Amino acid sequence: MSLADTWRAARPPVAGLHLDSAACSRQSYPAMAAAARHARHEAEVGGYVAAEAAAPVLDAGRAAFAALTGMAGADVVFTTGSRHALDLLLSRWPGGRTLACLPGEYGPNLAVMAAHGFARRMLPVDGAGRLLVEEAAAALADDPPDLVHLTPVGSHRGLVQPLADMARVCAQAGVPLVVDAAQALGQIDCAVGGPAVCAVYSSSRKWLAGPRGVGALGVRPDLSDRMRPGPEAGDVNVAAQVGFSAALGEYLAAGPAAVRVRLAELGSLSRRVLGEVLPGWRVVEPVDEPSAITTLAPTDGADPVAIRSSLIAEHGIVTTAAGVERAPLELAGPVLRISPHVDTTAEDLAVLARALVAVTDIG
Ligand SMILES: Cc1ncc(COP(=O)(O)O)c(C=O)c1O
Repeated sequence: MSLADTWRAARPPVAGLHLDSAACSRQSYPAMAAAARHARHEAEVGGYVAAEAAAPVLDAGRAAFAALTGMAGADVVFTTGSRHALDLLLSRWPGGRTLACLPGEYGPNLAVMAAHGFARRMLPVDGAGRLLVEEAAAALADDPPDLVHLTPVGSHRGLVQPLADMARVCAQAGVPLVVDAAQALGQIDCAVGGPAVCAVYSSSRKWLAGPRGVGALGVRPDLSDRMRPGPEAGDVNVAAQVGFSAALGEYLAAGPAAVRVRLAELGSLSRRVLGEVLPGWRVVEPVDEPSAITTLAPTDGADPVAIRSSLIAEHGIVTTAAGVERAPLELAGPVLRISPHVDTTAEDLAVLARALVAVTDIG
């Protein structure tokens, strides 16, 4: 069976079209069953006893996350998502509080940075918002911040930032690099390694197709040893962590490289299909950008929020309307985001294109 067929067969039949993996992918039967089994075991033996029994599964999940991010399993903790991971990290950050990030940085991340007293400066980018590596190297050498925070794939645009180059540049400048892999993990290679990468975090529900409400944070020991103490963690949803661990295992079994190739193909195909036929919309990304996220900017006043609603109500097609709050320092207006997973077909994208023409009133 092809990767697409295997991925599709592992999930309930979709009602309509699901083109919203950047928000939340469809879970597999095994991932859902693992979480449900854990909940059942909690009822049978008690939540705390069940948590002890689940330890090997959770260790395997942490090891899988570590493998995908270039960390070690022991350095990974589960969180409730990416924002929680950043909050945890910055609230305990041991060093100074200046950071450099991209203008396309995720808006809620900017809020977390500000809440923890971090002063930010912008990394240099080209007109599309892509990092200018050599200029960044010069800026870091000239006046190094206390850390660089890089979001290799943002929420508002399917642009892939040069993570490996940035890891190299940060290593040369001696600046620690923190990576928000919420959109990157699963879509691009995040195991870039190198001495600068001190923390990587991500969410379960996006490209890894685990349950909602869980994520993970990997922190290198030389940083975690120095982190400030914080409050004890509250209660955790172990069933969700078990489901995430199962999804991570499935993702590894599917073959990260094969998944990445297929997602990049679908991104290119989406942009070709949507770029050709759609009056009233402009495809934002270069056609061959190696991600599965395609964003459409309205050119004739279409409202992405209303279009998203019409696509769901009239065509059963799920997409995202991304407002400027996703990237307030870069995004000029709202966009419609299309994010297929590997089981999407060329015919699905043609159906989307026809539906978009139907719901876009540019009279
Ligand atoms: C780039 C990026 N970072 C962080 C987040 C926040 O993730 P979570 O909702 O798991 O906190 C998102 C969610 O969309 C995202 O796209």
